[in-house]
Amino acid sequence: MSSRVTATVYTSHVPAIGVAIDLGKTGEPYWRPLFEKYEPSREWMDANTPDAIVLVYNDHGNALSLELIPTFTIGLAASFPIADEGWGPRPVPEVPGHPALAAHIAQSVIQQDFDLTIANELAVDHGLTVPLSIMFGEREAWPCPVIPVAVNVVQYPVPSGRRCLELGKAIRRAIEQFDDDLDVQVWGTGGMSHQLQGPRAGLINAEFDHDFLDRIVTDPERLADMPHVDYVREAGSEGIELVMWLVARGAMAAASPREVRRLYHVPASNTAVGHLILQP
Ligand code: DHB
Ligand code: FE
Repeated sequence: MSSRVTATVYTSHVPAIGVAIDLGKTGEPYWRPLFEKYEPSREWMDANTPDAIVLVYNDHGNALSLELIPTFTIGLAASFPIADEGWGPRPVPEVPGHPALAAHIAQSVIQQDFDLTIANELAVDHGLTVPLSIMFGEREAWPCPVIPVAVNVVQYPVPSGRRCLELGKAIRRAIEQFDDDLDVQVWGTGGMSHQLQGPRAGLINAEFDHDFLDRIVTDPERLADMPHVDYVREAGSEGIELVMWLVARGAMAAASPREVRRLYHVPASNTAVGHLILQP
């Protein structure tokens, strides 16, 4: 018996999307076009709910702080509480973990020479909960366990695209060696172009975003060599979140994956929303 990566899912994590869902505003004129575009993805997810998700995201100074800045963190807990980001925790269920698979991935990936920080307690912020809400909608309980993998993209130095792609490959090898019969999805979240502060606040670069969507599907190896300064110059200071998509892409071996879904939408808060579902 062994497990496998059945799909990789990519999506922005705009906090205002979570607020729109939580306050029942998804039918309002500003939000309806975006949620309509995600609807086929939610239907696909209903039909293809995995046994577990490895969810690559970034914490935004909520669970982690400047006191300790791990580059890569994996959550081993049985359950992850919802972070209070200043307005109380989002009204969504706690996120169930998968301690056995998470411990196996930690063991395997660290033995493959990646330095992961182990989190036995971790509150999860909008970086993780908004993608879950987008893909599963409002639920009494999340439909499968989730293993959080937090990447530092908030405080420099942040990991390179190359390191993220290679981490994804190591995670896939770990999953394929797990002695249980599980369908696993790996999600890469954050992005696309956005900058939240400074003179360029509100920056959107649709040309860069579309090019990134093309290249992550067809040529992740070359995309992984793009330096940080290009992300920041072209996609804004928070556009660097996109390196996390390379972790998910690395978790899928296929040179030419099947593109199940692609979506690009502006406006959503300050962010260009991008989304892909790929299958081997
Ligand atoms: C926004 C986007 C983010 O990725 C984030 O973490 C916070 C805010 C925004 O578009 O408003
Ligand atoms: Fe963010």
